[in-house]
Amino acid sequence: MKNQLFAMILLLIGTILTACQEEIRRPDIMLIPQPASLNNLEGVFQISSGTKILINSDSKEMHRVTADLSRHLEGMYEIKCKVSFSGAAEKKSIFIKLNTGLSISRESYNLVVTPKGILLESPSPNGLFYGIQTLVQMMPPVKQSLSEVVVPSAEIKDSPRFTWRGLHLDVGRHFMPKEFILKYLDYMAFHKLNTFHWHLTEDQGWRIEIKKFPRLTEVGSVRKETLVGHYGSNSYDGKPAGGFYTQEEVKEIVAYASDRFITVVPEIEMPGHALAALASYPELGCTGGPYEVGTTWGVFDDVYCAGNAKTDTFLMDVLKEVIPLFPGEYFHIGGDECPKTRWKECPVCKQKMKEEGLKTEHELQSYFVQRMERFLNENGKKLIGWDEILEGGLAPNAAVMSWRGEDGGIAAARERHYVVMTPGEYCYLDHYQADPKTEPLAIGGYLPLKKLYGYEPIPAVLSKEEAKYVLGAQGNVWTEYMQTPAQVEYMVFPRAAALAEVVWSPKGARDFDGFKTRLSRLSKFYDLMGINYCKAEFKQ
Ligand code: ACM
Ligand code: ZN
Repeated sequence: MKNQLFAMILLLIGTILTACQEEIRRPDIMLIPQPASLNNLEGVFQISSGTKILINSDSKEMHRVTADLSRHLEGMYEIKCKVSFSGAAEKKSIFIKLNTGLSISRESYNLVVTPKGILLESPSPNGLFYGIQTLVQMMPPVKQSLSEVVVPSAEIKDSPRFTWRGLHLDVGRHFMPKEFILKYLDYMAFHKLNTFHWHLTEDQGWRIEIKKFPRLTEVGSVRKETLVGHYGSNSYDGKPAGGFYTQEEVKEIVAYASDRFITVVPEIEMPGHALAALASYPELGCTGGPYEVGTTWGVFDDVYCAGNAKTDTFLMDVLKEVIPLFPGEYFHIGGDECPKTRWKECPVCKQKMKEEGLKTEHELQSYFVQRMERFLNENGKKLIGWDEILEGGLAPNAAVMSWRGEDGGIAAARERHYVVMTPGEYCYLDHYQADPKTEPLAIGGYLPLKKLYGYEPIPAVLSKEEAKYVLGAQGNVWTEYMQTPAQVEYMVFPRAAALAEVVWSPKGARDFDGFKTRLSRLSKFYDLMGINYCKAEFKQ
């Protein structure tokens, strides 16, 4: 009996080792997101320390592209290739060619692997970067010293379906350290996601240093305690919680993102979700306070006073410091969940409405957002906000993030405004992904992998012309119930893989069973990256 058990264990170990050896000899091509076109070819190419990486253009961006490949080869397999930036193609090399003559979009690339070498081409470094991500996934998901890495031969022509491939993170509810934000950006790049929506201010914490207003971080970044359990529990942990990013740290994060071709979209939330700012500067609220940084979740009646010129000056001064830190074109001003309770009673707000001929508080919010839009536009930014900014009239150039279903996105696209689709039912990664009875506490909802995978960002009711205004989609990660980076990882992965395929791959390429097979291989990379992903989908 004992001998039989021993033999079985040996057999099992043997099978696992053979599988690993197979991976090393000729990895199957299983990519996420699935490329637009993939042709398997005969044979393999072997990368060793003698293989040259040749690049036809010597620029900062091309160095970034190449650094990613070198980092992978060295970090995973201890293979250190020679790199030359003045290279023409040579036999048995990896040739990375910036080819502005190619008539494909800037994030697209062509990758050809044959036993004679590798050719990666794109009209821009962005596309080359995504080609490298694909190449990396074609290598074995192992971390061990190898004399050569085998890449299966194939011809891939790839192009993303959408230009906004977003992942969001709320650092207001729970602060996440800089080191984790950097990891999050690495994970995004690996999935070919290109837009990091960084939700920096909340009722429960202000997370970005503003030099002109030090109290925002001295007071507003710390709450005295936090609700325990579900909303309404009435139980608190009695422990202060806080944290913020200095402007120097923000610059470091933005540069790190830029090295990975990720645009960071900052969100400074207004006019609601502003309790941390009001606790710091009570004169910005309708009642004058005192206020306290939020210790529970939900929506609070105390918001910025929209009638007070001081609020405008304050917010514009904040924006003046934040704008230069973020080179991207969009700036998110929030705009969601702003109760009008205080404005209805506030003499200053009422006076403003009278002066400006505003009939409802929604119009007051719209008036407020339009002023912010003018300011942002004058400072070289486009405004984007949650779909409530449609109420009371959309600001002339604003883009809309549709979260309360698809209606906001549909309405905005019909008005010829750009939209990003993030409907709660399909894109909220704070919702449960498996049976709540066996899962860590989450806000609610139910978004299993398959449901997100089946999401179609272009609402069927839009005409072809209107559909052009859908920039893409985004997964949102609200952290009320995610206290740690490990819990964020658990909620985001593997659902981010499904999201990646929704926003990158052709609509017709969607195949959940095939995706799950590819995902089981991708999860080996997750293991090597140390991602704490949810394994509910791997149990069957
Ligand atoms: C949101 O989820 N309140 C945008
Ligand atoms: Zn007011």
